[in-house]
Amino acid sequence: MEYTKAPPHESSYVDEAWRVKEAIREREGYLQQTYEFFHDSYENNTAHLHLDDGSVAAFSVVRNDGYLLFLGVDPEHRGEGLGRELVERALSNHSKVSCHTRESNENALEFYRHLGFKREREVESYYRNGETAYFLVKRTEPSLRNKLSGVLKNED
Ligand SMILES: CC(C)(COP(=O)(O)OP(=O)(O)OC[C@H]1O[C@@H](n2cnc3c(N)ncnc32)[C@H](O)[C@@H]1OP(=O)(O)O)[C@@H](O)C(=O)NCCC(=O)NCCS
Repeated sequence: MEYTKAPPHESSYVDEAWRVKEAIREREGYLQQTYEFFHDSYENNTAHLHLDDGSVAAFSVVRNDGYLLFLGVDPEHRGEGLGRELVERALSNHSKVSCHTRESNENALEFYRHLGFKREREVESYYRNGETAYFLVKRTEPSLRNKLSGVLKNED
């Protein structure tokens, strides 16, 4: 597995990441954002990617305030620690990491809870189908950020 990133205005692997996002949408119904929104988010923010033999196995798209616009792990690569690694990478770069998650997405809610995220608020009708979102937040002390930066390879 190889880590790489695409800084703002660099769209390397955007189509590969879209393929993973679409596989998740088709199988699980999550990550329903349009291609236009996905493309804009990817182009204007930093994407972090794990590649398995050149194919995207997992990716995140992180805004410069630590908000996770996207986090997706290819179903074939779940449970390998890739989701945790991408979240820890964001935590090593930002004092606060946040995201919205569907109230029906129990798997992601449990994943974030396990990593220490707190439900900061509930946003009714956040999604196009009227579903509620939870706004999840984790804050990191500078000492923990330094520790994570030391552990992660290819740091920003
Ligand atoms: C949620 C998601 C990113 C998790 O990715 P993953 O790579 O399978 O997760 P990891 O292997 O890194 O798991 C990290 C830790 O969380 C735990 N965990 C993962 N899912 C869990 C669950 N449903 N319940 C409890 N713990 C869970 C793991 O056991 C692991 O614990 P450990 O590191 O202490 O051993 C992945 O399932 C996914 O892409 N889901 C679809 C897209 C999505 O929902 N994205 C988030 C929307 S904002």
